[in-house]
Amino acid sequence: MKITMIGTGYVGLVSGACFSDFGHDVICVDKDADKVTGLERGEMPIYEPGLKNLVARNVEAKRLSFTTDLAAGVADADAIFIAVGTPSRRGDGHADLSYVYAAAGEIADNLSKSAVVVNKSTVPVGTGGEVERIMREHAPDLDIAVVSNPEFLREGAAIGDFKRPDRIVIGTDDEKARDVMREIYRPLYLNESPLLFTGRRTAELIKYAANAFLATKISFINEIADLCEKVGADVQDVSRGIGLDNRIGAKFLHAGPGYGGSCFPKDTLALMKTAQDYDSPVRIVESVVQVNDTRKRAMGRKVIDAMGGEVRGKKVAVLGLTFKPNTDDMRDAPSIAIVQALQDAGANVSAYDPEGMVEAAHIMEDVHMANDAYAAAEGADALVIVTEWDTFRALDMRRIAGQMNAKTLVDLRNIYQPDDMQKLGFDYFSIGR
Ligand code: UDX
Repeated sequence: MKITMIGTGYVGLVSGACFSDFGHDVICVDKDADKVTGLERGEMPIYEPGLKNLVARNVEAKRLSFTTDLAAGVADADAIFIAVGTPSRRGDGHADLSYVYAAAGEIADNLSKSAVVVNKSTVPVGTGGEVERIMREHAPDLDIAVVSNPEFLREGAAIGDFKRPDRIVIGTDDEKARDVMREIYRPLYLNESPLLFTGRRTAELIKYAANAFLATKISFINEIADLCEKVGADVQDVSRGIGLDNRIGAKFLHAGPGYGGSCFPKDTLALMKTAQDYDSPVRIVESVVQVNDTRKRAMGRKVIDAMGGEVRGKKVAVLGLTFKPNTDDMRDAPSIAIVQALQDAGANVSAYDPEGMVEAAHIMEDVHMANDAYAAAEGADALVIVTEWDTFRALDMRRIAGQMNAKTLVDLRNIYQPDDMQKLGFDYFSIGR
């Protein structure tokens, strides 16, 4: 099939590259000429394990190309995917759909034959209908079906999630569009990834409900972790103990400093707004958001308390800045609130992250960006682990203990064992244990 992908961000670039790897002919369109030039030169605009090779292999096989020319890109496409950003609108938390609507109009203006237009961006319930209305306005004599096909890609695991999805959700009532989507996803369908056909609004809501539920699991175990600290229980065992119930499942029950990223914060907020607009508020999700927001700030307080309550002039080393491992993404990362709280209390902060240093330098001020974990810990009064990168799991903690000025260790991802750290002389604090 001939597929056009509008937008080459996390979703568009990964989806386009994977579709081409299935054997489809894919043209990725982006307004940003620098990004397109870079992609043609094999430079990736995002850090995603395996993406560089996947793109290179398919560009080489002439199944994947990049352009800024939307008209040429959509001309004879069988399906056009909209994968542009839908960030939280300034201030009110609604999803900003201006990029989606702009793409819809531009596509319709440049279509010469009927086509299937697919919303892959995360869009509020009802957006598909609005996109269809806009396109019909721009191209009244074309038969255009707008389909909802939400993605469930995790950053750092996006290619695996695309190629081995738990399910593919297709929202449309148009029979022809269903046949096109079945053909596009045939390679996955053949290896038994269930194809779920449903209405467009249902498909749109499935995406929000999925992310809101995952965020709920995280805020739930985070609150249980706080209770564990008070009653003297171990949250890792609680998590294991409830996760073995297959109605609950073990995943997304790791207590930490709170969730971040470009999806959970944005999607929970957008769902809350939609629910309020339809006078059917999702009060549990509202609590999940509130718990998460206060938690990030509380983590800064936790570090300050671990250091005896007074950190003015003291040095704190932070390991891990990105919102999760295996990404360079700093959006809504807990480290931002934690570093801010420490600096507001007068601490000097040094930091190291395997991939996030460049992004972090745009967001954080007066943070000493160290070359590695050991350099960050040099002379520090406290070491704080914020993101559970694999490289932090096998640090030479004896060496670290020897080079710190004081031995406070705050492990916000529970990657070390308390007794191991206490044997090394650390004053060790963690989450829920
Ligand atoms: C998420 C969804 O998983 C994905 O399906 C959707 O398409 C996009 O949003 P992503 O935001 O990339 O993916 O990362 P994810 O791995 O879900 O983690 C999100 C946040 O939750 C991270 O900050 C992570 O640290 C946190 N988290 C995750 C926990 O604190 N505990 C957990 O057990 C799991």
